[in-house]
Formats: sequence, C-alpha cells, structure tokens
Amino acid sequence: MSVLVTGGAGYIGSHTVRALRATDHAVVVLDTMELGHRAALLGAELVVGNIRDRALVTDLCRSHGVTQIVHFAAYKNVGESMEQPDRYWLNNVAGSVDLVEGALAAGVKEIVFSSSCSVNGTPTTMPVTEDAPISPESVYAETKAMVERILGWYGITHGVRAASLRYFNAAGASTDGVIGEDWTHSQNLIPLVMKATLGKRPPVRVFGSDYPTADGTCVRDYIHIEDLADAHVRALRYLRDGGDTVSLNVGSGVGSSVLDIIHATERISGQVVPYEVGPRRAGDPVVTYADPTKVHTTLGWSATRSLDEIIESAWRWHSTHLDGFAD
Ligand SMILES: NC(=O)c1ccc[n+]([C@@H]2O[C@H](COP(=O)([O-])OP(=O)(O)OC[C@H]3O[C@@H](n4cnc5c(N)ncnc54)[C@H](O)[C@@H]3O)[C@@H](O)[C@H]2O)c1
Repeated sequence: MSVLVTGGAGYIGSHTVRALRATDHAVVVLDTMELGHRAALLGAELVVGNIRDRALVTDLCRSHGVTQIVHFAAYKNVGESMEQPDRYWLNNVAGSVDLVEGALAAGVKEIVFSSSCSVNGTPTTMPVTEDAPISPESVYAETKAMVERILGWYGITHGVRAASLRYFNAAGASTDGVIGEDWTHSQNLIPLVMKATLGKRPPVRVFGSDYPTADGTCVRDYIHIEDLADAHVRALRYLRDGGDTVSLNVGSGVGSSVLDIIHATERISGQVVPYEVGPRRAGDPVVTYADPTKVHTTLGWSATRSLDEIIESAWRWHSTHLDGFAD
C-alpha cells in the first residue's frame, strides 16, 4: 500500500511527502520537475514524468501497490493562466482526467485534490464557507472548480471518492528550516517580502492602502505549510475510512493584512522591509478568510501555528537559502 503524490517535488507537495513519510506511509512522487526540486524530496522516491501519461500512471500504481493519490500537479500562476489559458486547460484539467483514467485502470479510486479558495472568486460573505457560490475569476481558478466537478462525476460513473482541499494561502517553511518555498518562480506575498528584505529584489509593491479594512490593505488567510501538509495526511485517512467525496476550506479562520505581514517580518527579522504603496490591482478580493468549521468536523483538523510562526519559519528558510534549492 502506498500513496502516489503528483507534483510532490513542489512547495506544498514536498512538505506533504515529508509528513506522509513521517507517519509511515510509503510514497512515490510523480513530477515533471519543471517547477519541482529534487532536494526538497529528502530522498523520497521520484519518478520523473507527466500526469498526462496515462500508461505511466497505471504502471506506477501497479508496480508500487498504490491505493491512494494526492494530486498537487498543476500550474498555479493566475496571471499566466489569463495569457496562456490553453496550458492551464491542458495541464490542470486534461491532466487531471488523464491521471484519474490512468489510476482507474489500476483500480485506484481515492484522491486528495489540491483545490483553491479562488474557486469562490470574490466572496460575498465572510468567513467563506464551502457552500459559498462557485464563481472563479481566472482561468486558473476555473480549472480548480472544473476538476472538483469532474471528480464528482467520476464518483457517479466509476466510484471515485475525492477530498478537494480548498487551500487559502499556504505559507512558511518547515519548522526545522530543512525545506521551504523556493522563491525563483513564486508570486506569493511572503517570499516577495522576504526577498525584498534580503535585498534580492526591488521594494515590495502594496496594491492599495485605501480599502475598507483596519489598515487599508487587503486581508488574507495564511496557513503554515506544515499544518497544510497535515490536512492531507488526515484527508487520506478520511478516504481510507470510507469517507464520501467532499470539498473543504483549509484555512486558519484568521485574516491578516499585507501590512500585518510586513510588520511581523520587521519585528521577527529585525530588518526594515522596503515597500511602496501603489494603486489597487484589478480583481483583488478585499478580504478573504476561511470558515474552518467543516474541515474541523470532517478531518479533526485546525491550524495550530500562528502568523508569527509562519513568518519565523519563512525568515529562517529564506535568509539561509538565498538561491532556493540551488538546483
Ligand atoms: N501555493 C498556494 O498557496 C496554493 C493555493 C491554492 C492551491 N494551490 C495548488 O496546490 C498545488 C501545489 O501548489 P504548489 O504551491 O506546491 O506549486 P508548485 O509549483 O511548487 O508545485 C507543483 C508541482 O507540480 C509539478 N507539475 C506541474 N504539472 C505537472 C504535470 N503535468 N505532471 C507532473 N508534475 C507536474 C511541478 O513540476 C511542481 O513540482 C497546485 O495544484 C496549486 O494550484 C496552491
């Protein structure tokens, strides 16, 4: 019995692979390595290949006795998805269909899927519950909503059971500083703040400081990467115990503003974060944070680490890995 982790050499995947191995799961990673890092796997078994290769997926599942899949493999750059939508439809949506078909040929029917809070677009009520309207505002977000629905249909046609985890903002690095987010391609706020603080990029641009929030900047829900990894371990257990297909908001339930991140970084690093305030950016929701009630009742999961612990771990990692994994 083992777990196939697609995209396992990426940011969230590598922390989840580590958490799975720490809880005695046998793991095999399938990753093209286009955006992944071998060093992040800490010796876990890697097969370099594409989820679009159905025969490879079937072979892998058979040869490794795979019974469950955690499916991270996807592109995730919102801006790029609007400029090159075909890459996103093919990799994220068609790729997921190929993965499921390849897995079904080997009898594998339990899947934990990396979805995103972006499926709700700009939420109309706060905190965001799972029954908030599905209203994607980018091609990327639409691919996540589509795959959730496709997995639902595979439940009806083939008995697939899926846990779609709608992540809010994954952030931070492992507490021991061994793995973290390689900032080479990252567009996420915390790596950008760290990079600017360490003099590796121009000042951070804050998009709007006149929003109706406490300090005028946008508010998001940040979850520590190790808490997020733990949600996957629990979701696999839930499916193994016979759990039905479900979508869950995986967030802390706490909103933090852009200036909260900047000020926490200054406090923890002892450095000044260079930033400049620019105009609002089109399409940015003002405030989003999760209602974590359902994920707690379904998986027994809740965020255990604070914003300070997120920033501390991110600072420890980035300040000692100026070239990321350097691979
Ligand atoms: N980072 C976040 O805050 C966040 C939030 C919501 C959802 N997600 C989703 O979580 C998943 C993982 O995100 P991440 O931040 O770890 O991204 P990442 O880019 O670090 O990891 C993705 C990995 O998938 C691999 N990959 C891409 N296409 C592939 C394919 N066709 N076959 C095999 N491997 C492929 C890449 O090489 C990379 O290693 C993605 O599906 C992303 O959309 C991330």
